[in-house]
Order: sequence, then C-alpha cells, then structure tokens
Amino acid sequence: MTEFDFVVVSNRGPFTLESRPGGVVEFRPAAGGLAPSLSGALAEEPMGSGSGVLWVASAFTEADRLYASAGAVATGQDTLKLRMVAVTPEIGRAAYDVIANGTLWFLHHGLFDHARRPCFDRVWHEAWEGYCQFNEAIADAVAEQAATGATVVVNDYHLALVGRYLAKSRPDLATAFFTHTAFCPPEDLAMVPDGPRLELMESMSCFGACGFHTSRWRDAFVRCASAVGVEAPATFVAPLGADPARLDEVAATVACRSRLERLEAELDGRTLLLRSDRVELSKNLIRGFLAFDELLEASPQWRGRLIFYARVYGSRESLPEYLAYRTEVEHVVARVNERWGESGYVPVVLDLEDDFEATVATLQRYDLLLVNPIRDGLNLVAMEGPAVNQRDGVLALSREAGAYDELADVAIGLNPFDVTGTAAAISSGLSMSLEERRVRAAELRRRARSRTPAHWLAEVRRAARVPGQRGPRAWGQAGD
Ligand code: G6P
Repeated sequence: MTEFDFVVVSNRGPFTLESRPGGVVEFRPAAGGLAPSLSGALAEEPMGSGSGVLWVASAFTEADRLYASAGAVATGQDTLKLRMVAVTPEIGRAAYDVIANGTLWFLHHGLFDHARRPCFDRVWHEAWEGYCQFNEAIADAVAEQAATGATVVVNDYHLALVGRYLAKSRPDLATAFFTHTAFCPPEDLAMVPDGPRLELMESMSCFGACGFHTSRWRDAFVRCASAVGVEAPATFVAPLGADPARLDEVAATVACRSRLERLEAELDGRTLLLRSDRVELSKNLIRGFLAFDELLEASPQWRGRLIFYARVYGSRESLPEYLAYRTEVEHVVARVNERWGESGYVPVVLDLEDDFEATVATLQRYDLLLVNPIRDGLNLVAMEGPAVNQRDGVLALSREAGAYDELADVAIGLNPFDVTGTAAAISSGLSMSLEERRVRAAELRRRARSRTPAHWLAEVRRAARVPGQRGPRAWGQAGD
C-alpha cells in the first residue's frame, strides 16, 4: 500500500463519483465551499520526490462507496490521490445529519431556537456513538496510508474526533485540525451533555495544532477548552483566500461571458444588488429580503430601478430545518415581489440553479454585494466578489463574518439581526459617491487578491506538529 507524506482529510471530497451507463464512472467536482478551495491549493503542490498527496474523504454516492474498497485511487490530477471511506448509511446519517449538521453546525453558528432545540435525548446519544465510529473509520484510513512522520491536515467539525484516534494509533504524525466555521463561546458549549462535551474538546486537543480563520474563533475555542479543564493544543490563525486565478479563468469562458450578456439584458440598465449563498440558515437570507422590502418602502426612488438578485443554491436538504427554511425564503420573496413588482419589473430574482459561471458573471456585475450572515467562519463570497467585480461594487458585510476582521475599513459593516440597519447600510452603499466607491473597491480588490488557498494551505501545513510538541510557533499570528 502506497504511503503518503501529506494527507488532507475532509468529509466532502474534491469529487463526487457518478455511475454512467456502460460501467463508466464520472468524477464530478464537488460544489461549493471548502472542497474547491482545497483542490485549488493542492493543484499547486509540487510533486517532489514523494508519492504526492492523499485526500481522505467520506463516500456519499453509491459509486463513491464502490470505490471505497479500492484504496487510494487516481483523480486525473497528477499529484493527488483520493481515498473514499464508507460507513453504513445509518452511521453516515448519524454523523452527518444529526451530529455534524444538526448539532455542531447549529452550535457554532448560534442557530438553536432554545425553546425547542437542542434536545439531547436517547436518539441523540446513539447518534453521538455513530459520530465516534465515523471519525474512527476516517482515522483508520489515514493511519493505514500515511508515511512515518507524515503531515496530516484534517478539516472541519465533521471530523473533530479524528485527532483522538490518530494520537493513539499514529503518534508519529504531525497533525493540524482546521475549523472553517465559527466556534461557539463556552456558554453555548455548556448545553452539550458532559461526556460528549469533554470528548469533543479533548479530541480537538489531541491534534498537534488547531487553526481558525480569525482570532475571534480561536479565542472562543481556547476559552471552551479552559471551561472544561482541557489544556488547549497549539493554536493558529490562517484565513483562507479567494482563488483569483480560478475566478479569472471562469470569467474568461464563453459560458460566463454569455451569462453576463444575458444578465445585462435582464437588468436593462438597472442597479444590481446581489447576494450569493447556499440556502443556509446561518446566511440570513430572510432578513436580507426584509431589509430590501424596507428599503423600497423608505426610498421610493429605488422602486423599479433596483433589482435584488439572489443567486442561492440548495444545501443539506436531508435536514427538515433546511427544507422549511427554503420554503420560508420562497414565501418572503413572493411577498416582496407581490408588493413592489410591476409590469416588466420583478424586484427579487431568486435563482436557485447551481451554476458557477452564472455566479461569477453576477459577481462581476454587482453594484452592491450583500453578505449578512448571522455568524460565519470567514465567508469566501466577501472575498470572491471584490476579486472579480468590474463596477467598483460596494460590499455590505455582516460584522459577524470572519472576513469582516480583514475588511472592516473598506466594507460597510452591518448588524445581521437589524433589518432596518441593513436597509440603511444598503441605501448608504448605493448612494456613495463614485470616487469613494472607486477607492474602496480598489482596496477591497487588492486585499481579496492578495491571499490564495495555496497561502492558506502552506500555513496550515507549517503549523501541523506532533501532538504534545508545542515547539516554536509556526506562523506569525499563531499562539498557544
Ligand atoms: C460550508 C462550510 C464548510 C463546510 C461545508 C460542508 O462550505 O463553510 O466549513 O465544511 O459547508 O458542506 P456540506 O455541503 O458538505 O455539508
């Protein structure tokens, strides 16, 4: 079995496999968020003398599951091999739906509706066992294929317990765990039952180092560890960057150019307010539409002249909360359109198609980009938009997004819960002088293009270490 010097691990891998007629298996790039960024960074990895990089991920489709028994498989990218890990559908659902998405995601983004949830009952405790088994299966695959002293970078809350298993089976490995989401404060962590809460914090502390996008989430993690009496491992801060080269490449395609032309025709000279997100509770879509409604009410000059384009695509639809949220989003949009629409003018365009070329086209064209999450680890759209926008577009950005820490002086900050305040932020952005727009957009663009996923990965790799070895700090902002 090939041994790898560098192993990256995430729940969702870079490709989803689909069986096609005639026994053909198609590798389809995974959509959204983490996987494309990580793929971009790995594409720049030098082959060196070793065996390249192994990406360990969980099997989602039937075809993925078939490949799980094949060990490390070629991906078509010279330096990258993929190892799928399959668990039973029950364990998979317990780990992904109940614990990762239904509990940890809600916990870290402050999304629980406390009168009803969370509810840590018997079913939940059984699911926690499934989460442990899933994490162990992933750790076993890593342990099997990592070379002696290899570096292992594990990503996100689906895999928070992998550190505990690896520290036991492969204490020689240099490990880092990177959390791409926000991290909850100790007061919220206190809701989790004692046993799992301690397991979670102890397991994260079994990694050589834990990384976050901003010092806010890092500090919350350290406070959580201290609250349960666990010594935090080395920690570091390394924000992810947009991938300007990939965005430029997409922008230059015929498909993207034709979508941009179509959009111009649809807009017919109107001003474009844009949002680009998954249909996700933390993204705060509904308050965004309510703010637009208030804006049209308070500022009649925008009626008929401003279009709110929502490029959003479905996400985690195996969870009832997400399905209900999508329905609610559709209702709110219908209400706003009914109120302000007129012949030839649809105020809100809800575009649910998952089409990256269309997304890049709208990012190039916006006059104002609304990014108003309730809480967000970073929010890459806040970087991707300014990186490709061609109209000195304004960024209205939630103070609760990690990206705000880097862009506070050039974006218009907003409180995501304050609908009236959000309407005011949009209004002030749209009435900004052309000169101020130009100056801000130039600086936004400079910052958005200055860091890439490859910078991020290099920093995470440097921060990885053998658990228990605190040693010198790996990177400028890192601290213990
Ligand atoms: C978002 C988050 C990532 C997370 C991913 C999982 O992109 O920012 O931190 O890993 O969602 O998404 P999935 O579609 O696999 O549930």
